[in-house]
Amino acid sequence: SQFWLRGRRPERTVDYDAATGMWNVYGYPEIQHVLSDPRTFSSDTTRLMPAKVAERTSALSEGSLLQMDPPEHTKLRKLVSHAFTPKVVADLAPRIADLANELLDDVGDRMEMVEDLAYPLPVIVIAELLGVPGSDRHLFKKWVDALLQRDQQFSLVDESDEQVQQVEEAIAQVKHLTDYLGEHAAERRRAPREDLLTKLVQAEVDGHRLSDTEVVNFANILLLAGHITTTMLLGNTVLCLDTHPRQRDAVRADRSLVPSAIEESLRFFSPFAVLGRVTQREVEVGGQTIPQDQMLMLWIAAANRDPRQFADPDVFDVTRDPNPQIAFGRGIHFCVGAPLARLEGKVALNILLDRFPHLRTDPDEGPTFLPAPTTTGVRKLPLLLT
Ligand code: HEM
Repeated sequence: SQFWLRGRRPERTVDYDAATGMWNVYGYPEIQHVLSDPRTFSSDTTRLMPAKVAERTSALSEGSLLQMDPPEHTKLRKLVSHAFTPKVVADLAPRIADLANELLDDVGDRMEMVEDLAYPLPVIVIAELLGVPGSDRHLFKKWVDALLQRDQQFSLVDESDEQVQQVEEAIAQVKHLTDYLGEHAAERRRAPREDLLTKLVQAEVDGHRLSDTEVVNFANILLLAGHITTTMLLGNTVLCLDTHPRQRDAVRADRSLVPSAIEESLRFFSPFAVLGRVTQREVEVGGQTIPQDQMLMLWIAAANRDPRQFADPDVFDVTRDPNPQIAFGRGIHFCVGAPLARLEGKVALNILLDRFPHLRTDPDEGPTFLPAPTTTGVRKLPLLLT
């Protein structure tokens, strides 16, 4: 579904969808407006869920940075923001390069981009930062894959057993992850180490330690947000370059283009396609009056192709400058991990270009994609290397 095309209908950049009970927002300036005003547009979307669904999800949202508003959000975000500054993250570059090289040592004359590099690289990096073994990634993958199966958009007006059952299945998977993280967090309380999990169990906010649930959900968000989207970024970047061979050759020849190629990949195929917000009062967005307590779906993938913001939005251009893409969001919830994701993208792409001068997609076996519309990314991308 080419949802991003809707961003180019400036006369209808805000649409109410009766089937889901949500307002879709597609335009760049409209989304910018919403993201810059967290007081009017809350991130706590759980309170609008149908009661049957909310009952089941409440245990997971406690301590989730993504769904928090100030002042709680401000305090909790401080706990991790210093762990991901560009300076701290830059020091991880040698470890990321070593990992990428190790992973690629195992491939022969062909590879599957996601399984061989795009999945393991970010998941090992974030697992090591948290302080859980990167070798457990096969466990996370099983649980997370189950979460990525859903291809239906969630509905606020649907209290059918089917939707509730889907939510229950998703929660059962997340519970494996939270139980796993809970065991590690309990160990850190007994025996602290130099890792993020220890920082979270020791952290104090307003003189209180975080509860066990808060620690686990916070760690869970880091683990999930830290790899799913970065996996998509790495796969999508290789795909974009492969389908634009002249630009791929230009990047290969001039590596100073790597960072802008990553930015353009983020704009062109934004991994995290949509963000949710809730109106705290009646408010006008894009000329439409939206009542209080309404759910807004902000299609950042569409905004990244808004012709009012980007010239030739459907053209992939690694030299695009400026490129104010909003794939990492904007404002107070701007992605904490953006410097890390950018670094992983840069290191991985350079290493692929260095090691495989003939890298191209397998013409006999094209890519497959994750279920649209909420995620935009390749699920599998078979590559020929020689
Ligand atoms: C927030 C995208 C990588 C951790 C966000 C948001 C977006 C995003 C759009 C804003 C959500 C909102 O406003 O509701 C991405 C993309 C990535 C990526 C596209 C990769 C290409 C990472 C990594 C980490 C991470 C590597 C962890 C190390 C987080 C966290 C938040 C967040 C903790 C919540 C921040 C807050 O609510 O204040 N991300 N992300 N992300 N991201 Fe990322």
